[in-house]
Amino acid sequence: MQTQMLQSFPNRQWFYVKRPVGRVTGEHFDLRETELSGALAANEVVVKARYISVDPYMRIQQHERNTYDVPHPLGIVQRAGTVGQIVATNSDKFKDGDWVLGYNGWQMFAKCHASEVQKLDSDAAPVSTALGVLGMPGRTAWFGLMEAGRPRPGETVVVSGAAGAVGSLVAQFAKRAGCRVFGIAGGAAKCDFLVDKLHLDGALDYKKYQSREALSAEIVRLTNGVDIYFDNVGGMITDAVIPNIKLRARVIICGAISQYDGGLDEPDLGPRFLQHLLFQRATIQGILARDYTQRMDEMTKIVAPWVRNKEIVFEETIVDGFEKLPECLNSLFEGKNLGKLLVRV
Ligand SMILES: NC(=O)c1ccc[n+]([C@@H]2O[C@H](COP(=O)([O-])OP(=O)(O)OC[C@H]3O[C@@H](n4cnc5c(N)ncnc54)[C@H](OP(=O)(O)O)[C@@H]3O)[C@@H](O)[C@H]2O)c1
Repeated sequence: MQTQMLQSFPNRQWFYVKRPVGRVTGEHFDLRETELSGALAANEVVVKARYISVDPYMRIQQHERNTYDVPHPLGIVQRAGTVGQIVATNSDKFKDGDWVLGYNGWQMFAKCHASEVQKLDSDAAPVSTALGVLGMPGRTAWFGLMEAGRPRPGETVVVSGAAGAVGSLVAQFAKRAGCRVFGIAGGAAKCDFLVDKLHLDGALDYKKYQSREALSAEIVRLTNGVDIYFDNVGGMITDAVIPNIKLRARVIICGAISQYDGGLDEPDLGPRFLQHLLFQRATIQGILARDYTQRMDEMTKIVAPWVRNKEIVFEETIVDGFEKLPECLNSLFEGKNLGKLLVRV
């Protein structure tokens, strides 16, 4: 295949330029008008973004020290999952207009190797689900619950961050596994969503509780003990749940969003309430979506039909406007989203 000359694409790119100390805001990014032109080598394609993801992990990667990743470098386009369409191709695998999933970051146009994008079947499911229920958040929820949680019918599951992208799926997967499921989320509207739309057995608005003790008392009253705690938020909520775990409970650490805007750099003095793991001979396990990337098919084989038949709720909060990306990332920490937060461009 010959190298092709490209037409010029007027690009917009958000560069990550400054490490946040607390909350991530617009000042940590720089919006640049650039141009994508030049040549398209063999097997390269150009993708125009349509949906761009904002995810809490971005804030983890913005820390200065290593986490499960080296820190996101400064001075490059903010990395992110994207769904877009092919607008130029020098590959047999793609034609113009094909929908693809990629990791092209916060930019309108991206040139990449054909092997870096994955074709999407827009008839099988809404393409945006590749960034949500049929993408990384879905994979996290599925393998985190099924492999680390090992749910059994009749067990009691508590999910924190339950109205979000990962949490709302974990909660529904646990219901389908025959568990009693309780969700913890911020605000009455989200709690109503958990009970009325997701049909959970109960929901708890953590914002109504000022102390760990009060929240903990409500959790025990509601659940009568917890077999599986799927944790997305950490902090006071986790402190309130752990003393209520039952014998052989499984605690799954998926995320700790309450700690991302500073708390990861200055964590609590030590692990709190871990004595309860001793008392209950429980296990605690961290899980990471990328560890299951190669097993994505296992999950989609089961979950895609549920999506197709609308047997599960895959709520999306969609914000329009490329310029809104930093604002949207920040809004995750204010709980403005229900389900998966996406920016449509
Ligand atoms: N381990 C992995 O591989 C993996 C993969 C994906 C995501 N995660 C983690 O899973 C968690 C959820 O991610 P997501 O993509 O599904 O995001 P999300 O839940 O859709 O959005 C974040 C939500 O977190 C809640 N939140 C924000 N600040 C909080 C605080 N201080 N205390 C309690 N809740 C707070 C907000 O809901 P409320 O309105 O209810 O407060 C907000 O809507 C994050 O911690 C993320 O890092 C981990």
